[in-house]
Amino acid sequence: MLLEGRTAVITGAATGIGRGIAARFGREGARIVVADIDGAAAERAAAELMAEGVAAAGVRCDVTDEASVTGAVDAAVSAFGSLDVYVNNAGFTRDAVMRKMSVDDFVSVLHVHVLGAWLGTRAACAAMRAAGTRGSVVNMSSISGKVGNPGQTNYSAAKAGIVGLTKAAAKEAARYGVRVNAVQPGLIDTAMTAAMPPEVLGERLRDVPLGRIGEIGNVADAALFLASDLSSYITGTVVEVTGGRHM
Ligand SMILES: NC(=O)c1ccc[n+]([C@@H]2O[C@H](COP(=O)([O-])OP(=O)(O)OC[C@H]3O[C@@H](n4cnc5c(N)ncnc54)[C@H](O)[C@@H]3O)[C@@H](O)[C@H]2O)c1
Repeated sequence: MLLEGRTAVITGAATGIGRGIAARFGREGARIVVADIDGAAAERAAAELMAEGVAAAGVRCDVTDEASVTGAVDAAVSAFGSLDVYVNNAGFTRDAVMRKMSVDDFVSVLHVHVLGAWLGTRAACAAMRAAGTRGSVVNMSSISGKVGNPGQTNYSAAKAGIVGLTKAAAKEAARYGVRVNAVQPGLIDTAMTAAMPPEVLGERLRDVPLGRIGEIGNVADAALFLASDLSSYITGTVVEVTGGRHM
């Protein structure tokens, strides 16, 4: 198994893509810390994983809060003895055209994605460096950070920011053997895309060379590759999981 004996913290893992990553990593032998701002949902997700035979713990964690992020790292080390993989996946959207977007809409999205990923990357790298762990950090960007989406000036800026953060952190952390990479999902079958008007989704799907919407499992597979030794000579990269859209 690709993550046998390793411990992974996954933020925003109570639901959606993060939950899918937790399940995928668990099937590969990882011990999982589900870290989510919805603490009760994090505990429920951990209980579901445990029912499937995965060692798991659920913790409430607000990725914008330094102490909360450090707490998630500490929870991994105290429950399972190590931290080997950290996935900065937590996120949310507050879409509006610039004319209607408030400063709070902009700043709150930047905070959760960029500050959140920075706090997580920093805490994970510090713990891995102190323990001498040749770990992996995986940051969830979005293809909107590459191409920009109208109505998402905040989200596109945040997801592009995550790419810069990933590359700079990868250069710093390489010295002590920690890798930092990013994933850019495109159209993935989640609550986010289910909420799109069908005609808009249909129009966007026409631009996907592989001709279909992506599954959460496709994103989880890319995260697994970056988390595991399969990518041991890969750092500072961005893996696009888009079916070829916006290549
Ligand atoms: N759904 C897509 O099609 C898509 C495409 C590209 C990128 N992404 C990115 O993938 C990630 C997951 O997306 P999703 O569709 O599964 O979203 P989702 O809304 O289903 O899940 C996000 C999770 O993050 C948690 N969260 C939100 N704010 C938090 C905070 N401050 N601290 C800790 N947890 C917090 C939520 O409680 C929730 O459990 C996000 O970073 C998103 O931007 C999603």
